[in-house]
Amino acid sequence: MSLQYPKLGVVTLLCLLITLLAGCAAAWSSPFTEGGHGESLLDRLQEEAPLGDEAAEHGATSLTIDALLTDVETVAVETGAQGTPFQTLARTGHITQYPCSSCHSEPLADLQSALSTTDPKAHWSIDMAHADRSVMQCTTCHNPENLDTLQTLTGSKVEFDHSYQVCAQCHSGLAEDWAGGAHGKRVAGWAPPRVVNNCTDCHNPHQPAWDIRWPAVTSGGAKEQGTQ
Ligand code: HEC
Ligand code: HEC
Ligand code: HEC
Ligand code: HEC
Repeated sequence: MSLQYPKLGVVTLLCLLITLLAGCAAAWSSPFTEGGHGESLLDRLQEEAPLGDEAAEHGATSLTIDALLTDVETVAVETGAQGTPFQTLARTGHITQYPCSSCHSEPLADLQSALSTTDPKAHWSIDMAHADRSVMQCTTCHNPENLDTLQTLTGSKVEFDHSYQVCAQCHSGLAEDWAGGAHGKRVAGWAPPRVVNNCTDCHNPHQPAWDIRWPAVTSGGAKEQGTQ
């Protein structure tokens, strides 16, 4: 029995020590609180170097490529299910013969019926090398009622700026890759907003395949393009 008393003494002493240490800890001010004011270091940083509203919109960075986009025209991509919105380069301004209605003021059938079949082709320079003629003709993509626009396979009107919608009907996998960023090329930079090249910035819709390209100079010396 007598042995238990010293033990009790030790326990009491330990309790006292713990209370003392806890008191000290409370008096010591952490480097993350400004003594007395209770203001955190993060609050102080925010006060001294605040992030503007614009920065908050872009996820704590004010970087944008807006300044690099002053001389290009873009359109918002109208995709169905794809997640984040993005833009693509407008095409209409690049089409030499636009507006087509300067000659095509009437539907194509009316224009063609007024001409003899022996007349030279108006668009003789367009040499189609895309899909088979049984799959694709001029009016598969061009709207014969209004040549200032394209059309889908079911006859809905599509503006030239949104020609990727026409391509996407048959090349749906490639179009998804394009929307996701795995096919094509981003314009100007990686900061927002996201702007990408349109399909026809790279592919001629009438002859969309790329020629085989060889490096101008290889280890064996200069190589002629397209040979081998
Ligand atoms: C300088 C006048 C002119 C302009 C500009 C013009 N076209 Fe034509 N186009 C014609 C004529 C004339 C025909 C009918 C004769 C023919 O088929 O060659 C024709 C025919 C066509 C055809 C049918 C071809 C065929 O073989 O069935 C298509 C498609 C067409 N044009 C598209 C366009 C588009 C798209 C534009 C604008 C980007 C355009 N054209 C601008 C004069 C023009
Ligand atoms: C696969 C779809 C498709 C088919 C098929 C097609 N076109 Fe086009 N065509 C386009 C698109 C898209 C453009 C606009 C290209 C761009 O963005 O520069 C265009 C542009 C044109 C232009 C304007 C070229 C210029 O720069 O002025 C003419 C003219 C034209 N097409 C005529 C024709 C004719 C004639 C045929 C049939 C022989 C034909 N197209 C077949 C999709 C097509
Ligand atoms: C009506 C369906 C259809 C439409 C619309 C269409 N394509 Fe095609 N495309 C095809 C078919 C079919 C082929 C031939 C595939 C093959 O030979 O393996 C092809 C071939 C191609 C190729 C060549 C592939 C290769 O390397 O051989 C490219 C590039 C291409 N299309 C791009 C486009 C672009 C860009 C557009 C929009 C302006 C478009 N296509 C619209 C059906 C279509
Ligand atoms: C930045 C330029 C660029 C853009 C934009 C672009 N392409 Fe391509 N595309 C290419 C190149 C380069 C190739 C590869 C050609 C090769 O390897 O022979 C290619 C290949 C293809 C092929 C054939 C390859 C395959 O796997 O079948 C198709 C079809 C095609 N592109 C369709 C499209 C469509 C549709 C769009 C728009 C939604 C598009 N491309 C946008 C440059 C581009």
